[in-house]
Formats: sequence, C-alpha cells, structure tokens
Amino acid sequence: MLLPQSIDDTLDMLARADYVADRRLATALFLALKMRRPLFLEGESGTGKTEIAKVLSAALSRPLLRLQCYEGLDIAQAAYEWNYSRQMIEIRLAEAGGNAKRDKLGADIFSERFLIKRPLLRALESAGGAVPVLLIDELDRTDEPFEAYLLEVLSDFQLTIPELGTIKAAEPPIVVITSNRTREIHDAVKRRCLYHWVDYPDAARELEIVRRKAPGAAERLSREVVAFVQRLRTVDLFKLPGVAETIDWAGALTALDKLALDPDTVNDTLGVLLKYQDDIGRMRGSEAAGILSEVKAQLAA
Ligand SMILES: Nc1ncnc2c1ncn2[C@@H]1O[C@H](COP(=O)(O)OP(=O)(O)OP(=O)(O)O)[C@@H](O)[C@H]1O
Ligand SMILES: [Mg+2]
Repeated sequence: MLLPQSIDDTLDMLARADYVADRRLATALFLALKMRRPLFLEGESGTGKTEIAKVLSAALSRPLLRLQCYEGLDIAQAAYEWNYSRQMIEIRLAEAGGNAKRDKLGADIFSERFLIKRPLLRALESAGGAVPVLLIDELDRTDEPFEAYLLEVLSDFQLTIPELGTIKAAEPPIVVITSNRTREIHDAVKRRCLYHWVDYPDAARELEIVRRKAPGAAERLSREVVAFVQRLRTVDLFKLPGVAETIDWAGALTALDKLALDPDTVNDTLGVLLKYQDDIGRMRGSEAAGILSEVKAQLAA
C-alpha cells in the first residue's frame, strides 16, 4: 500500500480501518509519514494511541513490530542478544571435532546465525521492501538509560553491535511512540519526533467510534452512553473513563439487551466504566441518577 498523499487521504485510510481520528491527529500522522519522522503520541489511557500503530500496520500492509516498554527494559530485550547456549554448543562441537581454531571459531560464533533479533534491530532490517511499523509502546515506563539508547537508534536509524558492526536501515521504519505521561520523556527524544496529544474525543466523534466498534448497540443506547461518559469526564474522578471503556460499556449493555439507560442498570454496570472503588462509590446512587436525568433531558431537547 502506498502512503497517504494528503490529510484527507489519511483520514480516509484511518476510517477504512474503523479508526475515527480528528483532523489534527490525521495531520500529525500524515506529516510523520511524509517526513519519515517518528510520531510521538501522548495522552490518557484508552484514547486510541496503541491502536494507531495497529491500524497503520493493517492499512498499509506493513508488519507490526511491537516493543512493549517496562521498567528495566534493556538492550538484550529491545535490540539484540547473543544466543549464548547455541554459541556454547558450537564451541563444544568444534572442540570435539578437534577443529577448534581459535580465531575462526571466535568469528563464527559472533556471526548473524547466533544473533537473536529483537524489535529495534528487526525494524532496521526491512529486507524485502516493506518498511515495518515499529510501535514503542508506553515509553514512560522505561528508565532514562534506555531512552538514551533509543535516542541513538532514532537519530540515525542505525545501531551498532560491537562484534558485528553497524546496522543501518536502508529506509527508516514507520515509528509510533506512545506514553501515558507518568513521567516526562526527555526533550531530546521528543525533538526527533512529531508530537501529538491524544485527547478524549468530543461527543460526535465518540458516537461515531461507538457505532463502528459496538455495532450491535441500539442507536438510542449509544447516544445515551456517549452523553453519559462525556458528562462523567467533567467529574473530578481519580481515573476518567477512556474511549475503550465507552466501547466496553456499550457492548456490556447490549449484552444485557438494554435499549436505553436506566438508573439501576447504570449502578450495576459502573465497574465497566470506572476501575477504582472510590470512584464507583462516589458515583453510585444519586450522583449517577442525577447525571442520567441530565443526559436524558439534554438528548430529548
Ligand atoms: N479514535 C478511535 N477510533 C476507533 N477506535 C478507538 C479510537 N480511540 C480508541 N479506540 C478504541 O479504544 C480501545 C483502546 O485503545 P488503545 O488501546 O489504543 O488505547 P491507548 O491510548 O493505547 O490506552 P493505554 O494508554 O491504556 O494503552 C481500542 O479498542 C480502540 O479500538
Ligand atoms: Mg496503549
């Protein structure tokens, strides 16, 4: 698949994969693809950051290489690792065969055959033409030394393996980096990327998302669900519901054969929307009922 040729093209491409983006996101994505720069997506959880990379990979028919970040992530897991056990076996076999020429053996066991390739390295080797999509997910979970290493890779799209040499991408991969902003990512990393803050969608866009992602939900139910969640996001909760929760809720209510919201059902299903007991305790009962009647009045108007 060719890369999109315009912002409208980008919006179409995303919509065909059931991703409902706003124009600002489509612009950032279009530019990232065109300028071959990584796209840095920051935002609350469940707002569709990871999904962008998946959709890109599907829409452009590119392989998706996913690097899930976590505390303590190191080069061995992110880039490459020598296969020590296979190297040991090779040495033993050479010894047993009596042809353990030291120099040759040394060179042999540090050849590509004994290299375990992880996502960063694989992303640089786009053999066969199709440049992959590299998703570096939740970068804020790693620590700073890893960020520094990543910076090197993202600056020149190359990495160095001391025993083998430098591997450079013939063509830069399509890179999507996400962060939940549990800490600030270093400016040097951000500077190499195009930045986009993924916000909660407005009601119209969220309704469109629910229509696409929970197609079984009744129209009236979907409208009420979206209006309720939108209103809920104005409450000072510990953790606001994301788009993922809205989709889940519409799906859950549909599984319960609901065609519209009612106070009891809302109370009984709050756990689909809110994931902290304090938030649920606060909303349950009169608070939720108040929002529900507000929402019903607003939709009737
Ligand atoms: N704009 C959108 N269009 C279509 N689906 C969306 C959109 N935004 C979110 N979703 C849906 O919401 C769900 C959650 O999205 P995703 O996993 O990408 O969130 P995230 O921002 O990566 O969250 P987290 O930070 O928790 O990882 C997915 O199932 C995705 O399909
Ligand atoms: Mg994610």
